[in-house]
Amino acid sequence: MNLEFIKAIPVPAFVVSAAGLIEGANPAFLKLLPRAAIGRNYLTVLRQPALVALIDDLRSDAQPDTAQLALKGESEGVFNATGSPLGDGNVLICLQDMNETAVAIQMRQNFVADLSHELKTPLTAISGILETCDGDTDAVAHFLPTMSGEVDRMKRLVDDLLMLSRVEANERRSPTQTMVLQDVVTKACAPLAGLADKMGVRIETSLPDDEIHFQGDQSEVVRAIMNLVENALRYGNSDGYVQIAGEINNQTSSTSNVTIEVSDDGPGVESHHIPRLTERFYRIDAHRSRDAGGSGLGLAIVKHILNHHRGQMSFESQLNQGSKVTLTFPVEQSGP
Ligand SMILES: Nc1ncnc2c1ncn2[C@@H]1O[C@H](COP(=O)(O)OP(=O)(O)OP(=O)(O)O)[C@@H](O)[C@H]1O
Ligand SMILES: [Mg+2]
Repeated sequence: MNLEFIKAIPVPAFVVSAAGLIEGANPAFLKLLPRAAIGRNYLTVLRQPALVALIDDLRSDAQPDTAQLALKGESEGVFNATGSPLGDGNVLICLQDMNETAVAIQMRQNFVADLSHELKTPLTAISGILETCDGDTDAVAHFLPTMSGEVDRMKRLVDDLLMLSRVEANERRSPTQTMVLQDVVTKACAPLAGLADKMGVRIETSLPDDEIHFQGDQSEVVRAIMNLVENALRYGNSDGYVQIAGEINNQTSSTSNVTIEVSDDGPGVESHHIPRLTERFYRIDAHRSRDAGGSGLGLAIVKHILNHHRGQMSFESQLNQGSKVTLTFPVEQSGP
């Protein structure tokens, strides 16, 4: 039988003869399972009951199902096997790598579990209060501010989730508006003046005198800076400072970028947390963050805003030495 066609199959594939020997295999299969060799019994390479059942079904013309194979050792992972009979007891088996799908399913499950937990916490608080008050209107009135705080927390969570999904949905389309660096910093700081006062923190800005223009979605960039300044105010040093510095860096005659740095003189972050800070719902001190009304979505939103702008975010910090977050936006030079 001419098995040349197998080389054209883009996933790991092999042919098993009626005697159970590997008659042919493509490079992707031999790479996945280096033990496999033409002429070897396939069971010495892939002894999986689901695969044996699939091959039996294919030979007996029964309605074949797919077989899920969990490989261990040299090639870890989950693969879906499907096949076709080739006549005379020969069968073709193709393996589809399910690892990315498995990771995506796991991420979705974690996200739903985290989100349910975040929504359950305020709901439990409210229903606990209502149960305790048992229709006593004076008691309900007494707890109204607490309940309204919990409702605000849920509202903020839902708003953040909507923002996150809007930015993610837009990520492939580059923003085309132009904005002014000095304006976005001012717009981001204005709504946080009250919080800065409450925390006793000074907000200092260091920006060039000449207006700096760059491309981007203004409301997203304002939101990204706000999230960083709010973090610096909440987790920084009370009675300390938050500094926002912006500049344009001309790297070559045709490329340049705008950087915006937000730094604080707070307690900082231990290095092992840093790579995880942009994960949804990740908080170092969940209790402190929750007290501050946070749900751990702020930096995830910043990361997606930067992805949308083809920019970068870096978080530098050391324990007791403050934190500095730098946003870098590429700037398109207009022609000569
Ligand atoms: N400047 C900072 N100094 C110290 N820790 C920080 C700083 N910025 C962020 N963190 C830590 O990173 C965690 C994640 O921040 P993020 O902004 O994503 O979520 P949050 O502030 O907890 O909630 P949200 O932003 O959704 O209100 C925070 O909970 C905090 O522990
Ligand atoms: Mg935050």
